[in-house]
Amino acid sequence: MISVLVTGKDSQLAQCIRDLQENCPEISFDFKNSKELDITSEQSVAKTFKAKTYDYCVNCAAYTAVDKAEIEPQKAKLVNTIGVKNLALACKRHNVVLIHISTDFVFDGKKKTPYTEEDQTNPINVYGKTKRDGEIEIQKTLKRYFIIRTSWLYSNHSNNFVRTILRLSNEKEEIDVVNDQIGCPTYASDLSVFICKIITLNSEHYGIYHFSNEGKATWYGFAKQIIEYWQLNLKLNSVNSNEYITKAKRPGFSVLDTSKAKHTFEIITKEWKSSLYKCFLSYDIQ
Ligand SMILES: NC(=O)c1ccc[n+]([C@@H]2O[C@H](COP(=O)([O-])OP(=O)(O)OC[C@H]3O[C@@H](n4cnc5c(N)ncnc54)[C@H](OP(=O)(O)O)[C@@H]3O)[C@@H](O)[C@H]2O)c1
Repeated sequence: MISVLVTGKDSQLAQCIRDLQENCPEISFDFKNSKELDITSEQSVAKTFKAKTYDYCVNCAAYTAVDKAEIEPQKAKLVNTIGVKNLALACKRHNVVLIHISTDFVFDGKKKTPYTEEDQTNPINVYGKTKRDGEIEIQKTLKRYFIIRTSWLYSNHSNNFVRTILRLSNEKEEIDVVNDQIGCPTYASDLSVFICKIITLNSEHYGIYHFSNEGKATWYGFAKQIIEYWQLNLKLNSVNSNEYITKAKRPGFSVLDTSKAKHTFEIITKEWKSSLYKCFLSYDIQ
């Protein structure tokens, strides 16, 4: 049995991993929420790693409020950088492989073609910087790690863009959505399958990997798919980033090149719209 600690039990990603448990009989998962394991506390991390022997730690814990991070950067740093460092040190002490989730927001968005793992990071907001610094802490501390950068995560769990559009359709008649930021929506369930594959393969191809669904979209295009599928009574207005001011700047282009993950682990990434429709089937709305 492979023993796996999963932090951030209530994150949408950890909930997708929980949904998958039955399909991974060779893995014994131990999910911890932020009360049971606060990654910003060295004592909490030490206690967890001493209490049980793990082969892997999947870090789903993160400070993910991109705009709020601009006004409380220390809180974002505490979780995304210091917390990740605490986990990396514990993994080193206990000989555990760390699988950490990072983001397309480590890039500045100036490229016009999909970002590869070799491209220079240059975050343009606090969230991206704290996530990039978390990656650096792992690389300084560990040899046996997987850093998986992903983008625009959604699922049928927790708060995400799909849920936001569904909620807004009950509250508003029209909304403005930016049409000049390009990325790739990614179904967290597909990412959880990839994470479980790395674990079951017991892969030693450590390093950074990009994982997302296939293709590209703007937030406007993403919203349009959601509205059309559910036939929502919500008018969409296409706006540019300079008309839709947010506290955090966002990269204009952050599509990830997933070739390395596809070749290394022999996976096929699904087209983003087909994964979105699959996700819709698990939504419990009238
Ligand atoms: N969402 C996206 O669009 C996106 C895109 C690219 C990459 N990512 C990355 O993917 C990963 C998963 O994202 P997600 O959207 O699934 O996350 P999420 O739903 O926002 O959940 C984050 C989780 O982290 C937990 N957490 C926060 N501080 C913690 C701490 N000090 N100790 C332990 N747990 C703590 C939270 O617990 P509480 O609720 O109890 O505080 C929450 O359950 C993250 O690393 C994120 O940066 C996300």
